[in-house]
Amino acid sequence: MGKLWRWTIAVTVFLAIFYTLWLRTTPGSSSRITNKFARPPSNDRDVAEFVNLFIGTVNGGHVFPGATLPHGMVKAGMDTDSPGNHAGYDADPIYKATGFSQLHDDGTGGHAPLSNFKLWPLKECLDFEHCPTQLAHRSASRALKSDGTPDDGGSPGYFSTNLSTGIRVELTATRRTALHRYTFPSPERPDPNIDTRPRLIVDITNDGQKLAWNIELNIEPRSGRVTGGARYQASFGEGMYHAFVCVDFKGEGYDIGPPVEYGTYASGDISPNSTSGKSQYWGEQGAILTFSPPKPGHTVVIARAGVSLISSEQACANAEEEIPDFDFERVHKQARAQWNELLGRIDVEVDDSDRETAVLFYSSLYRSHIVPADYSGENPLWNSSAPYYDSLYCNWDTYRTLFPLMSLHDPLTYARIVRSFIDIQQHEGWLPECRGATVQQYVQGGSSGDPIVAEFYIKFHSYVEELGINPEELYTALLQDAEVESPAWNFAGRQTEIWKSKGYLPVGLFAQGGMDTRQVSRTLEYSFDDFSISQVAKAMGKKADSAKYAKRSRGFELVWNPETTIEEGEGILGFMQPRYKNGTFGYTDPRHCTVNDPKHSSCFFDSFNLDGFYEGGPIVYSQYVPHDTAKLIELQGGVEPFIRRLDFIFDNGYFDSTNEPSQQIPFMYHYANRPALSTERARQTISDSYNTSINGLPGNDDSGAMGSYVAFYLLGLYPLPATRQFLVSSPYFSRVTIWNPLFSTYTTINANGFEGNPKNGTGGKIYVKSIRINGRRWKSNCFIDWDVFELGATVDLELTDERDTTCGENDDALPPSLSTGGYDLDITT
Ligand SMILES: *[C@@H]1O[C@H](CO)[C@@H](O)[C@H](O)[C@H]1NC(C)=O
Ligand SMILES: *[C@@H]1O[C@H](CO)[C@@H](O)[C@H](O)[C@H]1NC(C)=O
Ligand SMILES: *[C@@H]1O[C@H](CO)[C@@H](O)[C@H](O)[C@H]1NC(C)=O
Ligand SMILES: *[C@@H]1O[C@H](CO)[C@@H](O)[C@H](O)[C@H]1NC(C)=O
Ligand SMILES: *[C@@H]1O[C@H](CO)[C@@H](O)[C@H](O)[C@H]1NC(C)=O
Ligand SMILES: *[C@@H]1O[C@H](CO)[C@@H](O)[C@H](O)[C@H]1NC(C)=O
Repeated sequence: MGKLWRWTIAVTVFLAIFYTLWLRTTPGSSSRITNKFARPPSNDRDVAEFVNLFIGTVNGGHVFPGATLPHGMVKAGMDTDSPGNHAGYDADPIYKATGFSQLHDDGTGGHAPLSNFKLWPLKECLDFEHCPTQLAHRSASRALKSDGTPDDGGSPGYFSTNLSTGIRVELTATRRTALHRYTFPSPERPDPNIDTRPRLIVDITNDGQKLAWNIELNIEPRSGRVTGGARYQASFGEGMYHAFVCVDFKGEGYDIGPPVEYGTYASGDISPNSTSGKSQYWGEQGAILTFSPPKPGHTVVIARAGVSLISSEQACANAEEEIPDFDFERVHKQARAQWNELLGRIDVEVDDSDRETAVLFYSSLYRSHIVPADYSGENPLWNSSAPYYDSLYCNWDTYRTLFPLMSLHDPLTYARIVRSFIDIQQHEGWLPECRGATVQQYVQGGSSGDPIVAEFYIKFHSYVEELGINPEELYTALLQDAEVESPAWNFAGRQTEIWKSKGYLPVGLFAQGGMDTRQVSRTLEYSFDDFSISQVAKAMGKKADSAKYAKRSRGFELVWNPETTIEEGEGILGFMQPRYKNGTFGYTDPRHCTVNDPKHSSCFFDSFNLDGFYEGGPIVYSQYVPHDTAKLIELQGGVEPFIRRLDFIFDNGYFDSTNEPSQQIPFMYHYANRPALSTERARQTISDSYNTSINGLPGNDDSGAMGSYVAFYLLGLYPLPATRQFLVSSPYFSRVTIWNPLFSTYTTINANGFEGNPKNGTGGKIYVKSIRINGRRWKSNCFIDWDVFELGATVDLELTDERDTTCGENDDALPPSLSTGGYDLDITT
């Protein structure tokens, strides 16, 4: 390497660092990201008061109701011994609490993920060596409220519970550190025979799956500091991850001193005075400490738990940096303020007579920001200056609505996630797909990182470089998914060779690299993924590529069998069907995976699923071509048969909103120029399945996929990912204002004539008759463009109670589809 080169590199690196620092530290200095630190005036409101953390904490919702920052790595929460404790917690009081652990996911399936490093307070022991340490012996019920529900509470950045032992537990968090506050009961008349000094357990081995290897554990007797870690099993994949913790204790308002008793335990046996444990064995292991506060009445013990995926030392450093003062109130207040700032960017008019709808909205919006989680600085796999996000469980769930929602009000976090995706692609070869705890997990659809990255580029293409993203690297990452066969497409990337040569994924090939299942649904996902790439190519001015990927995005047409019929569906002709390599169609009963499936088939991720579909059968997937609904209408025989089919789906119980490919079905009447029918179906979906009770979710929250979908429905919008269009219906509020911090713009949607929301979803003034943007009549009553959010605007919806509304008279009044002219990207650069 010549000297000049070295100089050039040195100067370039210097400039890059300087530019990055300057962008970070100098508000107002960058050309367009001028007001990125400005705050919308409306969010002085304490919108956190509308958030109910407990929606979806029974009934398989698997919602995480603990303490976290928006996209925080640490998610401190209560674990219960419920079989459905994927996020640790279960609101059903029959389940006992087993610990307060530091890491969780939200709304996932698979095996219970994370839930590492449970802390547990013990009220009294006969003596130290007989304290119960194992889960089965130490667990305790929660205290019950008068209505029989557990005495648990929480709000953004905070969780609390009262245990049946009388101990009160409160949790709050920073990004990588949890703060626990244990208030031990002070006995009214102390019994000298019972030792009630506060004791705490730090459990190293009981993660969600209760499987740990290579256990390390250390106690510092002088300070009481406990450090440790182990390797744990991923939830929905084959790999393992390493995690570490560092716990320190402090009295609140007094000096607690060093522990008066301490020791390690293994499989129920306590070794007093032992300060370390190191073993391969995966039995229950941890540390136990006794404190002796100076006076009666000193009953509050603060435990600070730093977490790291790199080392115990780093876990301690994280804790010391983030919470040097152990100040519970301060940390809690700051966490709530962060949530208020974020959630307050979407301001809805709250009608006091319908507060529940505001609770449903803000709780759903809240759940859209639990994951992906910001693990920056904690990636053990490679060193990089890019951010590192994890808990993408899975992109297939979240690309439809979660990321388009972030486009509206949180583009700076979105930009960091995209940077992280590109960084992962550069180190692992393909964009991430279903990552959890640093491990590649099973791919559900295609390469759904593509539409996430593409959505970002389509919406922010003239800002990407200012946001630290190199557009050519972004495009290269997409092409890698599209062009290069992944040797393990079960975990990342695609089965590109057969896709490129056949245009669809044939059944019965015994392919290498993954489970040879889900060929039809993957064909539809690959089609959409390639559509998203064609949009990016178009926005980049790469015309030939754009045409190439647009053509590939028509792969779905090849798995449409025009002959297939369905029982009792008179006049319904044609379904997506499995197809062999030789072109002959196979057959999967269109009722597959529905309530009326005569075979009660499994539609999930397993090798027995040989019918070609995943989480939905031919009925759902025959509606699933988000980029070209006009083509679907044509395949289905025209507008009338298309409407008849939609009605058939809803009226016969075939609609199931729990699986993501169904999310846009209620809105599809828009494409048939019958938007009022979409409004009714969408509102019925909400009233049938989504509410503010603990069972207010019909299935897994899927990492906020459900939360973001409900948030959009309540805003009266449905996004088309990787395009600049949003379908419009009436919002559940008389006014909605959205603040975009990248553009520093407000967009206000007024529902003029709003008279409240009918309980069952239909009836009353809920249909959109016309749309005005900044006072001027807009070309369509069915969709709006991204410009409205990029430039800021006032959108006036005129509502009516008449169901015969249309999108408008002209051809461009219908929402766009690829086969009828495609998507206007409105490139202004
Ligand atoms: C627990 O008990 C305390 C008082 O001891 C009370 O203030 C609190 O509301 C109770 N419930 C929860 C969930 O913290
Ligand atoms: C643990 O150490 C303390 C203090 O040195 C001592 O009093 C106690 O007897 C020890 N316990 C055991 C079981 O060795
Ligand atoms: C990252 O850098 C640190 C400090 O130089 C080093 O100890 C560590 O091994 C590196 N990690 C990887 C995965 O390369
Ligand atoms: C195509 O392949 C399938 C599966 O091997 C077979 O059942 C079918 O008969 C073949 N069709 C033709 C026309 O050869
Ligand atoms: C809330 O929704 C759930 C499931 O989606 C449903 O089972 C339950 O009946 C609903 N509850 C109310 C009060 O509407
Ligand atoms: C919903 O309620 C409205 C008003 O109470 C009523 O007119 C309408 O028929 C109901 N619709 C359904 C589907 O139950």
